[in-house]
Amino acid sequence: MKRNRETPIEMDKAEFKKIGYRLIDTIADFIDTIEEKKVTGGESPKQLQEILGTASLPEKGMPAETIIANAANLLLNHSLFNGHPKFLGYITSSAAPIGALGDLLAAAVNPNVGAQILSPIATEIEKQTIKWLAEFIGVSPAYGGILVSGGNMANFTAFLAARTAKAPKNIKEEGISNAETKLLVYCSKTTHTWIEKAVVLFGLGTRSIRWISTDAHNKMDNNVLEQTIKADLENGCKPIMVIGTAGDVSTGVVDDLRAIATICKKYELWFHIDGAYGVPAAVVPELKSVFDGIQEADSIALDPHKWLYSPLEAGCTLVKDPNHLIETYSSHPVYYNFSTNDEVKTQNYYEYGFQNSRGFRALKVWLALQQVGRSGYASMIREDIELSRLLFELAKKHDELEAITQNLSITTMRYVPLDDDKDNKNTEAYLNQLNEALLNELQQGGEVFLSNAMVMDKYCLRACIVNFRTSQKDIEEIIAIITREGKKLHQLLRREYKATALH
Ligand SMILES: Cc1ncc(COP(=O)(O)O)c(C=O)c1O
Repeated sequence: MKRNRETPIEMDKAEFKKIGYRLIDTIADFIDTIEEKKVTGGESPKQLQEILGTASLPEKGMPAETIIANAANLLLNHSLFNGHPKFLGYITSSAAPIGALGDLLAAAVNPNVGAQILSPIATEIEKQTIKWLAEFIGVSPAYGGILVSGGNMANFTAFLAARTAKAPKNIKEEGISNAETKLLVYCSKTTHTWIEKAVVLFGLGTRSIRWISTDAHNKMDNNVLEQTIKADLENGCKPIMVIGTAGDVSTGVVDDLRAIATICKKYELWFHIDGAYGVPAAVVPELKSVFDGIQEADSIALDPHKWLYSPLEAGCTLVKDPNHLIETYSSHPVYYNFSTNDEVKTQNYYEYGFQNSRGFRALKVWLALQQVGRSGYASMIREDIELSRLLFELAKKHDELEAITQNLSITTMRYVPLDDDKDNKNTEAYLNQLNEALLNELQQGGEVFLSNAMVMDKYCLRACIVNFRTSQKDIEEIIAIITREGKKLHQLLRREYKATALH
């Protein structure tokens, strides 16, 4: 269609189709051959800057076709591919291709999901996505919530709802510094670092965290939790919330959620579950008991961009009584004309979280939930866990590997050289040094990408399988790669050690 105004940013239909089809072809080839690539080229920032060039801001525009082709070339040849079957680092999943199509569609229509009037069908789709996510993990579909950018934001969003609900009522007007008693939050030592950011950002301060020790299984010690709460109450402090973790970032352990729920009820505390990584595993029928107590949570963080294989970014906060979100985030400036007289209450997502203008991140999650269904997800998550167990078993059987932990889909292990001579004992310090060097070598090498964890003071290689492309063959090959590189590094370090000893 011929427009009345010509601008350098519009694309006509023919041009959009030509560039778009070509890009889709390129992406389809990329997905089809991803396992043939290295996980990462391991290029340094300096090398990448040279490739990108140092041109200053362009004064004049360029043809879209050229710049899209250039961008595809840069990204497809110089990225770390977390969709590669041997990417098992941190907690970043392989991304569902339907999610990429969803993001394209969402960006094309561009609904602003901050207000219902600006995103009529998108708001309904986000509501349905949230309801489905609640059903997925086995809590009441009456939980409400909001999609956010990821795990940190999902936890922050819930943290502030807890603060509003449990701190003195005048906190909104007077601020946190005017609270007469010290507000306290409780979590185990394995809790992800978001909690430290939260207490700093939201005014409680790092001294408001009571770090509860863990038991022999690495779960929060609930006896210590209760004793600590009691002592704090006796000292005139104000406990407000307990954070249980459902799948800790290092080893995948799920806290005893039922016991935490009971303590929270007894002391009238907000019960938050950080299930950013692990809570989707509640969809696997045989794992239901691991998550027992989840239905009692006042709020839950979960991340579709982790174990639901959504492309980044997609996190979700679920709240048992969503009014707590409205009480925390709602405001009514005169310039918003967002209420309607519909028989169904208008849901304006700007009242549920940090953002006012919001993108349509629900679409990619909603699409994948339909493409795969509950049983499809249960199978994929179960397979990820089985592969993780296989990795653990193979490490256990291997005489140069020490299998350390296995929970949900996270395995930790370390390389322990066989030979040992009197000059270079496999001390704990040496094993830590060797495994740290090994991890760096593996990450740079591009054959496999693992990350690390400290477990009982042991520096471990950590594999987290949230990857629907990983297969048994990959796991077997990973064992071979780790031991091959471990052996090489050990010999190198030993030679270096001997050379220094001679000087
Ligand atoms: C348990 C847990 N909580 C929160 C987060 C933070 O998630 P994000 O990186 O999406 O902000 C992570 C990330 O790995 C996590 O494992």
